[in-house]
Amino acid sequence: MRDIRSPSPVADLDIRNGTVLYMEGVSVSFDGYKAIDELNFYVNHNELRCVIGPNGAGKTTMMDIITGKTRPDEGQCWFGSRLNLLRMKEDEIARSGIGRKFQKPTVFDNHSVFENMEVSADGVRSVYGLFTARLSGEVRAQIESTLELIGLADESRTPVARLSHGQKQWLELGMLLMQNPMLLLIDEPAAGMTHDEMDRTIELLTQLKLTHSVVVVEHDMDFVRNLESPITVLHQGSVLAEGKMQDIQEDPKVIEVYLGS
Ligand SMILES: Nc1ncnc2c1ncn2[C@@H]1O[C@H](COP(=O)(O)OP(=O)(O)OP(=O)(O)O)[C@@H](O)[C@H]1O
Ligand SMILES: [Mg+2]
Repeated sequence: MRDIRSPSPVADLDIRNGTVLYMEGVSVSFDGYKAIDELNFYVNHNELRCVIGPNGAGKTTMMDIITGKTRPDEGQCWFGSRLNLLRMKEDEIARSGIGRKFQKPTVFDNHSVFENMEVSADGVRSVYGLFTARLSGEVRAQIESTLELIGLADESRTPVARLSHGQKQWLELGMLLMQNPMLLLIDEPAAGMTHDEMDRTIELLTQLKLTHSVVVVEHDMDFVRNLESPITVLHQGSVLAEGKMQDIQEDPKVIEVYLGS
């Protein structure tokens, strides 16, 4: 296996009971509309979890809550058993080891792949402050092994503007990995990708789950099927069903609200 630098959890992240993310009884309303309604959601260490559900089910809002962008009205939300996410600010949550990838890549088009990776490594370096100089060799090695992992080692000097949509998505994932997150939240990675890019992304996510916990929100059912992972179906802000693809596909409730359409 390639050398993927293992995540560096903060000292007070305790995952001894195996649960990396713990959400219980979480609700949030926007102008009286309950976007998240008594949601219970748990993610284990080294688990890849797919989240599916109709438009407006609350999938993105759930990620907004985990990352501190949206505050719920009620409920509990813990990272490991010691970090209360509802008491942390967005940047503290990001630094504690939760990385989020949005659908639209936020990369610097006029810079090379390597330079983009360096920029995200800077975030790490500034956290370590004084150790900047000593870390640089290590950071360079981490950039190189991450580029290997995301399949962009040969594009290191390529300006980002020349990458395909899929390659930009992988670069952004690589930039996220430079911050050594333990939990990755990825919203609709397959959107806009070619079939080849989707296949490559499935391989990448399958590799990432060996070293990280990953939550993937996705509408493309072939993509979800090929990830061969447990699935959570969200509907009207709460869990409608949870389980293997086969059980989900045969669940009458799921067929009615989602798969049937
Ligand atoms: N900041 C906000 N202010 C007001 N309403 C919001 C906000 N964020 C989400 N909503 C509403 O909450 C509901 C859930 O939206 P959300 O984006 O979480 O759905 P989703 O499951 O991600 O849907 P999609 O599959 O279309 O991305 C929607 O009705 C949406 O309009
Ligand atoms: Mg969404």
